[in-house]
Amino acid sequence: MSEQHVLEEDLRKGLWEEPATLPPRWFYDERGSRLFDEITRLPEYYQTRAEAAILGECAAELIAACRPVTVLELGSGTSTKTRILLDAWLAGGAAGDAGGREFIPIDVSAEITEEAAGQLTQAYPGLRVNPVIADFHHLPDPLPGVAGRRLLLFLGGTIGNFTEEERARFLSKVRARLAPGDHLIIGHDLVKDPARLETAYDDAAGVTAEFNLNVLDVIARTVPTAGLDRGDFRHEARWNDRQRRIEMHLVAEKPVDIAFPSLGRRRRFTEGESILTEISRKFAPGELAGDAARAGFTRERTCTDSRGDFALDLYRV
Ligand code: SAH
Ligand code: AVI
Repeated sequence: MSEQHVLEEDLRKGLWEEPATLPPRWFYDERGSRLFDEITRLPEYYQTRAEAAILGECAAELIAACRPVTVLELGSGTSTKTRILLDAWLAGGAAGDAGGREFIPIDVSAEITEEAAGQLTQAYPGLRVNPVIADFHHLPDPLPGVAGRRLLLFLGGTIGNFTEEERARFLSKVRARLAPGDHLIIGHDLVKDPARLETAYDDAAGVTAEFNLNVLDVIARTVPTAGLDRGDFRHEARWNDRQRRIEMHLVAEKPVDIAFPSLGRRRRFTEGESILTEISRKFAPGELAGDAARAGFTRERTCTDSRGDFALDLYRV
């Protein structure tokens, strides 16, 4: 299916809901991926630094517990932090020899993924790097890669961008693609002071606001529209205490009327009405292990940073 058809399906499913919703994958055109990369370096956005610190502490131990032949990464983006794990993984081989090992980054964002794969190929001579451009909700079956133990990475807290149902479905689909003895590492953000969370999603430099508004440019470029003007919306990050999640909204600053000729529909927004563009669920320590157990995973280890901001769980099938 073309990008236009996939987006039209997503608009049809979510835009006429209350509130209007969009799946977060539409943030990540090339510009959105570069904006996200900028977010990871913002002073307010602690998650990437916390996860990198955990990997610095635990990578060798995690790799020793899994001893994979193939490492796959879902929603890999630039795979920057992943290098800490790759370093530990390849440290065992002779210099420049990755011993038949393969790294498979899987992401919807083509430019960033291919660029990252090229850089990894240069940085790790001998490691086979085979990127796959795919939606992680529709994983290839079987997963690519040679026979042998597999380690699947899902870093960055992206699991928090799923609804409760999506998370359960995703974990069981991942489980179905793996074999007994394979491993899964999931990075996830932990519940903390709501003020700190809201600041992390509404930075002073306005990069997150731009990242959020960029989705309107993606829509305008991908499907026919009339009346869609990004200047009519503003970014807002809200902590939802009951559902323990940050919600990113695009709030209409005045009444807005957008026509979608290919869908044969219009969407009217009243002033103050919003599109929920992303949820980012925050977990209590250990909370994710229950969901993973229901999908058939056993938790082997949890690593957190010294501030208790973020956690990495290691699971075995
Ligand atoms: N893992 C990286 C990037 C996280 S940003 C990190 O930890 O920094 C989320 C990533 O998931 C982006 O690279 C985005 O392109 C990708 N992504 C979002 N929705 C996706 C989907 N449905 N299928 C595959 N990749 C997706
Ligand atoms: C990719 N994902 C885990 C990020 C998050 O924190 O939920 C996306 C993001 N949205 C705004 N800032 C970062």
